[in-house]
Amino acid sequence: MSFGHCDNAVLTEQLTFAKRVKDRLYKSFGHIPLACVITFGCQQNVSDSEHLKGLLCEMGYSLTDDTEKADFIIFNTCAVREHAEDRVYGNIGRVKQLKKDNPALIAAVCGCMAQQETVAEKIKKSYPYIDIVFGTQVSHRLPEFIYKRLCGSPRIFELKQDNGDIIENVPVKRDGKLKGWLPIMYGCNNFCTYCIVPYVRGRERSRDPEKILEEARAMVAAGYKDITLLGQNVNSYGKGCTHGVTFAELLRRINDIEGEFRIRFMTSHPKDCTVELLDTIRDCKKISRHLHLPFQSGSDRILKLMNRHYDRKGYLELIKASKERIPDLALTSDIIVGFPGETYEDFKETLSLVEQVRFTSLFTFIYSPRGGTPAAIMEDPVSRKEKGEWFDELLRLQEGIASENIKALLGKTFRVLCDDFGSAEGLMSGHTAGTAVVEFEGDSSLLGEFLDVEITSYENVFKGKIIN
Ligand code: 5AD
Ligand code: SF4
Repeated sequence: MSFGHCDNAVLTEQLTFAKRVKDRLYKSFGHIPLACVITFGCQQNVSDSEHLKGLLCEMGYSLTDDTEKADFIIFNTCAVREHAEDRVYGNIGRVKQLKKDNPALIAAVCGCMAQQETVAEKIKKSYPYIDIVFGTQVSHRLPEFIYKRLCGSPRIFELKQDNGDIIENVPVKRDGKLKGWLPIMYGCNNFCTYCIVPYVRGRERSRDPEKILEEARAMVAAGYKDITLLGQNVNSYGKGCTHGVTFAELLRRINDIEGEFRIRFMTSHPKDCTVELLDTIRDCKKISRHLHLPFQSGSDRILKLMNRHYDRKGYLELIKASKERIPDLALTSDIIVGFPGETYEDFKETLSLVEQVRFTSLFTFIYSPRGGTPAAIMEDPVSRKEKGEWFDELLRLQEGIASENIKALLGKTFRVLCDDFGSAEGLMSGHTAGTAVVEFEGDSSLLGEFLDVEITSYENVFKGKIIN
């Protein structure tokens, strides 16, 4: 193991703080204290918030979605694009009024945005009613921060990047009962030139495979049927560690756990996606037939400027290899439109790649400069308006492809996990092993069941009938 997997002393200390918070809150409140966790951004943040919720429950809080009832409110923020940051500022501005109505309210901001010095400074100066600000690598210390603030400590700003320790066994309160997130690694080493993530989440650190397996087994035993392994680049899982377990091997070991459940994972960086991984998806029945493989741009010139370490040809070969091995594979991707210096000629390369691969769905973004990243100081002559027009062109292309993909699924039968209620009375909904959502007749007794469903039509969502 190359990273100090922290022994439990750090956690024990925090659980002691949690107990102190609990004692103190019960003394000072006439009601059960309520906490509200508001999450922005990616699945990693959703998973982090589930751990914040776990810690809050340890502290005696019950959870609420109602900001007006909350005694503690925390914003778990995202910094990946400017739009995400703007939304956070709008939201934290509302805390001023909430505090007028409830002077005992404690408010915190954490996550990727809070990890940036400039943001922390802005909150310090312009949002004096925010009590606690902390970065991505110290979130297990939430009990300590709340306790100190309850005891009258000055406002807390804790941005320090830790030494890379992974704190295991932090309590977790998962949002769902059937579908659950399972982080296998943290941070990123790739430094794509547009991306803030390596700066705010620190260097790549992989969890110990035994700890991951232990958690996966516990999730399966608790009834989880759909487990998504999380990491910024899951394909580099285990790099630099002495245990020698690759991502593909980790998948195989999770696949060996008894029971009917599904394994998903994200995100895969194309530069580290191996044939071993593709073979593993093909061979392991519990692994979903889905690969999210962001290519960002179809132009080799732009890929170089982005520091992506693969080219168009290599990416297309990878797609070919995956389709050959796994014919029913759902392919999805991320694309950035309007990277600094991108010309319409470059953008056409993106369009032609989309045309060629025929992705099931795409996550498309207009480039957003992030302070401190190399791309933020590159020349960017194309106007926002023009980038918007390119973006719309890409969406139109993908709409046509998606409707063809939809037609191709009609009449086919899929194994579907019933995981939600449908859009109307008497309907339930579920996911295929790819990414399709299907509605069919049934009631709540089907929740958590795997069913064979034939897809009969498409009306905003697939409609189908159970055939077993
Ligand atoms: N601007 C626009 N999109 C970005 N992404 C990451 N950084 C930026 C940025 N600065 C997109 C990438 C990534 C996804 C999670 O967000 O496509 O894969
Ligand atoms: Fe950002 Fe690139 Fe790391 Fe993904 S792989 S988190 S895009 S730096």
